[in-house]
Amino acid sequence: METLKNKVVLITGANRGIGKSLVKACLEKGARKIYATARDVNKIPDFGNDRVVALTLDITDNTQILEVLEKTKDTEVLINNAGVLSPGNILEGEINAIENDMNVNYLGTIQMMQAFAPILEKNTPSKIINIASIVAYSPLPSIAGYSASKTALYSATLSVRIELEKKGVTVHAVNPGAIDTDMNKGSDWEMPSSDEIATIILDKVETGTLDIVPDEIGLGMYNKWKEAPSKLAAFFSELYHSK
Ligand SMILES: NC(=O)c1ccc[n+]([C@@H]2O[C@H](COP(=O)([O-])OP(=O)(O)OC[C@H]3O[C@@H](n4cnc5c(N)ncnc54)[C@H](OP(=O)(O)O)[C@@H]3O)[C@@H](O)[C@H]2O)c1
Repeated sequence: METLKNKVVLITGANRGIGKSLVKACLEKGARKIYATARDVNKIPDFGNDRVVALTLDITDNTQILEVLEKTKDTEVLINNAGVLSPGNILEGEINAIENDMNVNYLGTIQMMQAFAPILEKNTPSKIINIASIVAYSPLPSIAGYSASKTALYSATLSVRIELEKKGVTVHAVNPGAIDTDMNKGSDWEMPSSDEIATIILDKVETGTLDIVPDEIGLGMYNKWKEAPSKLAAFFSELYHSK
């Protein structure tokens, strides 16, 4: 088992939600240093621990990515958590919103992987952990642009997993169902907290699970998909048309 104890971790979108919880969970796991990055460095909470180093990082800005890279060359675990969600289906969805989801969730995460791969190859054994979504397996049409961006991200994750597999870099995909964060504001579903889920994600990473579905709601959906992809599609169809 390859634990996170004494590891140097970089987390994107660390100011709130799952990213913030992942910082706390990394502290609990005994990580040596955690680069907590966010678009607005002033929004990064005080974690009360000098193992946390706060840095400004918008993952769609390649200049900022390269500036951060210069300061974080000891990174051993890259957690690509930052993401956005615009509601809307394909036929009536705002094209700018669909483009923004793709820019952040897919292209932004790819830029991060391209920038950090060379140093992760030096700092082996190392890891990339990409937070995609359960909708990577089958689209939910009420969030169709987001679903497409996460399917694309999951595909890129599987590709990079193979590209790096002989280089000492393990690549994990995390595909949650529904977690209680700002992203799900207004939902009446009963959802687990991001603190709970962050600990489960890191436990599964430590045991070497490559594709991680950390929550019960997600697991229910994942099991339908595993039985037959059409079963998850039918479930999402019911959800979509029940509104
Ligand atoms: N919550 C769920 O049910 C769920 C399910 C499946 C997957 N996920 C995924 O989990 C990840 C975390 O989501 P969350 O639930 O914690 O949502 P959240 O509370 O809305 O947090 C999203 C985070 O991403 C950051 N972010 C957005 N655009 C960015 C950019 N261009 N550069 C850097 N950071 C950026 C946000 O920063 P700002 O504060 O600056 O906006 C924020 O820190 C996302 O990738 C999301 O798609 C969530």
